[in-house]
Amino acid sequence: MLILGIESSCDETGVALYDPEKGLLADALHSQIEMHRLYGGVVPELASRDHIRRVIPLINAVMDKAGKKPSDLSAVAVTEGPGLAGALLVGNSVAHGIGFALGVPVIGIHHLEGHLLSPLLSDNPPKFPFIALLVSGGHTQLMEVKGLGEYSVIGETLDDAVGEAFDKTAQALGKAYPGGPAVSAMADMGQSGVIDLPRPLLHSPDCNFSFSGLKTAVMNTIRKHSGPLTDEYKNDLARAFVDSVTEVLVAKSLRALKYYGYKSLVVAGGVSANKQLREALRSACGKRGVKVYFPPAALCTDNGAMIAAAAAAHLKEISEGASEKEDGFSIKP
Ligand code: KG4
Ligand code: ZN
Repeated sequence: MLILGIESSCDETGVALYDPEKGLLADALHSQIEMHRLYGGVVPELASRDHIRRVIPLINAVMDKAGKKPSDLSAVAVTEGPGLAGALLVGNSVAHGIGFALGVPVIGIHHLEGHLLSPLLSDNPPKFPFIALLVSGGHTQLMEVKGLGEYSVIGETLDDAVGEAFDKTAQALGKAYPGGPAVSAMADMGQSGVIDLPRPLLHSPDCNFSFSGLKTAVMNTIRKHSGPLTDEYKNDLARAFVDSVTEVLVAKSLRALKYYGYKSLVVAGGVSANKQLREALRSACGKRGVKVYFPPAALCTDNGAMIAAAAAAHLKEISEGASEKEDGFSIKP
């Protein structure tokens, strides 16, 4: 079986070829970050037009790389949403065009399910059930995942997503969008404990988050600083921000694992690439006998591979369900 995955929900055109038996055969990505940087954020109309330019050449590139031809495809998987309407429309039009021309099914995948299942692409994939921490530019959620398609949100941000807080902090520290990796690198050079920042909702008796106040605290700290904004000061501030975010994300993940009685944690979404968060979660989970799973580093942010892998998981369940059931296919909502 060969699945073509297409992701075009925001500012990255991602395309991949996935074989459920052999794994990821080829993937290609075009990031529009440089184009949007000029405007200080993603411009939806420009995003759509760029997806149109990129998607077919990227599909041809992965086909060539894997030595495959269109007639080898068994299915096309595409991000159905959420995302920018025009950008999504490009990926979905291309996916349905290919599906129609080849007579193969087109499988719409929820963008967050793609992230959630992206650790399936790692060498050490998780098994259901587990608690998932989804940390991206648009979302911050804790989920109870009982099986494929059985997802319940058990906590989420009440305001900004954690990736957004990283990006705003980066901007305040003079770094370009998206600033997550830059803040992480600065934090690596900074010292813990020099600057004090709040730990929002750390002790609240739930699994919710709040990062808007932390973002404001970073800005206020810079505004009130009387001395020069030296590199050393900025690195210490980045460290304080990362320490705060990490402490809260770890504490809430542990709370969810304990309350719901799970011993596996899956961490996914762009911020799951963060080195300090990975180290802190590995250490905290290791002490409690909890297994923690991440996507491969290159597949934490948006990509076509996670969309193809999520579709493969659904197709596998359909075929297993079909062979077990006499009355045909069954898909969980
Ligand atoms: O999942 P993603 O690619 O897009 C959404 O679906 O939102 O996540 C993008 C976010 C951005 O906010 C980016 O700054 C953040 O992930 N990010 C990071 C790192 N790499 C990407 N944040 C912290 N540390 C990183 N290494
Ligand atoms: Zn995403």
